[in-house]
Amino acid sequence: MPDRFDLPAGFRWGAATAAYQIEGAVGEDGRGASIWDTFCARPGAVRDGHTGAVACDHYHRYAEDIGLMKGLGLDGYRFSVAWPRVVPAGAGAVNPAGLAFYDRLVDALLGAGITPLPTLFHWDLPQGLEDAGGWLNRDTAYRFADYAAVVADRLGDRVPAWITLNEPFVHTVFGYALGTHAPGRTMMFEALPAAHHQLLAHGLAATVLHDRGLEVMLSNNLTPVWPASSSAPDLAAASAYDTLHNRLFTDPVLLGRHPDLSALGVPEDIYGAVRPGDLDLIHAPGLDGLGINYYNPTRVAAPTAPGLLPFDLVDIPDAPHTAFGWPVVPDGLRQLLHGLKELYGDALPPLTITENGCSVTEPTTPDQPRIDFMSTHLDTLATAVAEGADVRGYYTWSLLDNFEWAEGYHQRFGLVHVDFATQERTPRASYGWYRKLIAAHRASRAR
Ligand code: FCB
Repeated sequence: MPDRFDLPAGFRWGAATAAYQIEGAVGEDGRGASIWDTFCARPGAVRDGHTGAVACDHYHRYAEDIGLMKGLGLDGYRFSVAWPRVVPAGAGAVNPAGLAFYDRLVDALLGAGITPLPTLFHWDLPQGLEDAGGWLNRDTAYRFADYAAVVADRLGDRVPAWITLNEPFVHTVFGYALGTHAPGRTMMFEALPAAHHQLLAHGLAATVLHDRGLEVMLSNNLTPVWPASSSAPDLAAASAYDTLHNRLFTDPVLLGRHPDLSALGVPEDIYGAVRPGDLDLIHAPGLDGLGINYYNPTRVAAPTAPGLLPFDLVDIPDAPHTAFGWPVVPDGLRQLLHGLKELYGDALPPLTITENGCSVTEPTTPDQPRIDFMSTHLDTLATAVAEGADVRGYYTWSLLDNFEWAEGYHQRFGLVHVDFATQERTPRASYGWYRKLIAAHRASRAR
């Protein structure tokens, strides 16, 4: 069986973070408000009233954090640019101090020999745009393209590849359909125009980036869908869920068409937002790489009671679970990668794992669950690559413990422990393990 040391030469080792989860400094140097600032202030929205106001204070401590990355020997670092830091109102005036921060960050990364991989939108929409309808407003897509141009013009001379959006599926479902994330709307399927406008934003920004000679990726949270049984109702429910979770954003970008949502009981014109030519704007720019955030498979059954949703999500009881309660199934990654190839064939661009990791309950000595999680997933990844999957890199989630959205600081995903009272960083055993793996892989492939 191939293992992680068999990953090809040139395979890129990385770590990932996101602006609102680590930066803090929400009121500094001209940053505008984001929907997450607003959501965190809503009573009961985030566990224990936690907010990202300080987070890991990375805005001030980025040099120390890049030192930690350098210590790991990373090839790449995936971070996100905070739109409200660069264009505080979301549209109009650019904030030079905000751009200057990312300029310093990029230079410091390059100085440490690490390639920056920025994501332009990781959920922190400027509040000014939310006030005008957020992603339900088509205009937001055009404002995103303007913002992409500003950032690319400043950093594109040093940053070769860009991710437009992070997990538009999760942002649409949690933010607009269920309301458990910012902006906290509970629209169920009426949220679908927000999905279409994010796709349009991706397409418009992809053209902006390509015009500047830059590579474009899109990161989504994908999941292999497991029917709870082989009964016809369970199979139908699983197929409907698969379409919603995995194909809503991938089909339009890779194939130039929206998937058929009729099995979900969604009226045909539910997008209500699609204008002639939109799918071309989304599809024509093409994708240089698809980012995959993999955490777990999803087991789906037919609904037990009639309701709005034609599926129930059920647990995978025989799998171990992380501190977050997510099932740990490394082989799901292999199934996912092969399933994508089967479905999209030659339309599938090279893949990068842009997130994978787990939260672990503290205190853990010596951080063994995280090491086990990463090693089993990387071994499985190596098997999938040996079987033909074209995967070019792996960015673990996450470098640091950070603000885990609605869970506040309760889920610890970091290779580095953060004491949020003192901001002290302490590398965990998984940090040393990853450092050794990267060095050993590099040495063996150089031979
Ligand atoms: C992903 C998000 C990321 C982080 C991990 C645990 O869905 O992209 O910001 O919260 O989950």
